[in-house]
Amino acid sequence: MAGPAPPPTRPLFVVVGATGDLMRRMLLPALYGLSADDHLPAESAVLGAARTSSFDDASYQAWAAAGLKEFSPYHPDAIDPWCRKVLHYQSIGEGTPADYQNLAARVAKVEADHQLSGDRVLYLALPYEAFAPTIKGLAEAGLNHGPGWTRIVIEKPFGRDLETARDLNALVHTYFDEPSIYRIDHYLGKETVQNLLVLRFANVLFESLWSRDRVTKVEITVAEDLGVEARAAYYDRAGALRDMVQNHLTQLLSLIAMEVPAAFDADAIRNEKVKVLHSIAPVEPEQAVFGQYTAGWIAGAAVPAYRSESGVPAGSTTETFVALRLKIENWRWQGVPFYLRTGKRLGNRVTQVVVNFQRPPVTFFRDLDPDEVHSNELVMTLQPDEGFDLVFEVKAPGQTVATKTERMRFRYAEQFGNLPDAYQTLLLDVVEGDATLFVRADEVEASWRLYAKLLAQPPAPHDYAAGSWGPDAAQGLLHPDEEPWSRP
Ligand code: BG6
Repeated sequence: MAGPAPPPTRPLFVVVGATGDLMRRMLLPALYGLSADDHLPAESAVLGAARTSSFDDASYQAWAAAGLKEFSPYHPDAIDPWCRKVLHYQSIGEGTPADYQNLAARVAKVEADHQLSGDRVLYLALPYEAFAPTIKGLAEAGLNHGPGWTRIVIEKPFGRDLETARDLNALVHTYFDEPSIYRIDHYLGKETVQNLLVLRFANVLFESLWSRDRVTKVEITVAEDLGVEARAAYYDRAGALRDMVQNHLTQLLSLIAMEVPAAFDADAIRNEKVKVLHSIAPVEPEQAVFGQYTAGWIAGAAVPAYRSESGVPAGSTTETFVALRLKIENWRWQGVPFYLRTGKRLGNRVTQVVVNFQRPPVTFFRDLDPDEVHSNELVMTLQPDEGFDLVFEVKAPGQTVATKTERMRFRYAEQFGNLPDAYQTLLLDVVEGDATLFVRADEVEASWRLYAKLLAQPPAPHDYAAGSWGPDAAQGLLHPDEEPWSRP
C-alpha cells in the first residue's frame, strides 16, 4: 500500500480516455496531489490520449488546469506550472493501427524529452465497450512491453456479465500477464475499506464473535443522494447492479465475510476473497428488489424522476436501486443473511456496514421484557463520517431495572484528520507494483457469477420517491422477525 517516499522510478502515465469525466474529476486531481505532496517522482509525466484532435499540448494543459482549479483547489498557484511541465496530449483518432503507432512514437518521445525510466502505466479511463479495441490497439503497436515495466489499469465495470468478463480476461491475457493487470475498484483504495481488514484481523475481540455463532445478520448499504448526473448515456445501459453491486458492494461483502488470509499479501488476501464468493449461490430474482427513482426532494430541493433526467430514454426500466438477500453457504456464515442495498437519490449519502449480534439467550433481570434488550450492533461507517460505533445496553439509573441503548464511538477525522484520497492510494500502488487492492481475474469472474441469474431475468423496478430510502418492497426481503432496514 501507499508509502510516503516516492518510489525509485520515473514513470510515464498514459491515460486513454484523457478528455473524460473520470480524468478531470478524479485522475488529474490524484496525479497532481501525489506530485504536490512529493509522493511521485518530480520527473514523471502524463500523456493523455483520446479520440478528439481538437487538443494540442497547450490547449490540453489549459483544459486540465481549469478542471484542477474546480475539483482540486490544492496549492492553486502550482497548478498551471505543473500542467505545463507534466501534461502532454496525443489524439488516437479513429483508433487505426497508424493512430496507435503514432501514440507509441509519442510515448518514446515524451520519455526521451523528460528522461524517464521507461516504466509505464497504461490507464484505460474508458467505457466498457472501448476496452477490447484499445487493449488490442495498444498491444499491436508494441505498447504492452516497454524498456522498463508496463502495467495496465482497467476501470470498472470489467465486462457486462460473466461471459463478457471472461472474454475480456482472455483478451487482456493475450498481451499482458496477470501481475501487470490492475483492475481498479476505487472502493478498495478508501482508507476505511482497508480498515475493515485491520478491524477484523487485528482485534481478537471482534474476530472471535465474527460468525454464525454470534452474528444474526449483516447489512451493507451504499446510499447516494446524487442522481444520474451527466452520465445517463453510460448509466442507463449499466444500472445499479452493474455500476455498484457487482463491484463496490461485492468487495465490501467479501472483506466482511472472508476467512483470515495466510499472509497480508496480494494473493493470500485475494484467494480468501474468491473463496468466499464461491460459497455464495447465484442470487435468484426473488432474493432481489429493484427500484427506480421518481421525482422527489433532496435537501429541500425538488429533483426530477430518473426518466426525466437529461439523456435517459422516456420509458427506461433501468434500476437505480437494488436490495438483495445473500446466503453464504460455509461453516462460518451458514444461516446468517447478508443484505446489500444501494441506490441513487436516497435519503442521504452514506456507506455503512451494520453487523447485528444475538440477543442474550435469557433475560438476566426477571422484570425485564426480553424485547427491551436490544441486540448489540457494530456500525462501520465508511463514508462520509468515517468511523465506527459499538451499540450496547446499559442499565438506566434508578430503582427499577430498565435498559438503555448507548454507543461507543470512534471517528477517523477526530483522531487522524483528513484521509488519503482513494485514487491517489491506488495510483501509487500501481507504481509500486502492489496489487493487493486490485481485483484479480478469477475474482471479477466469481463476482459476475453471483449476479448471472439476475442479469438474465432482471426484476421489474418498483418506484421510489427521490429522497426516500427506496421502494417499500425492499422490506419484503427481510425475515418478519427482523428489524427493518436501518436508516443511516
Ligand atoms: C462509481 C459509480 O463507481 O462510484 C458511480 O460509477 C457512483 O455511479 C460512485 O456515484 C460512488 O463512489 P463514491 O466514492 O462517491 O462512493
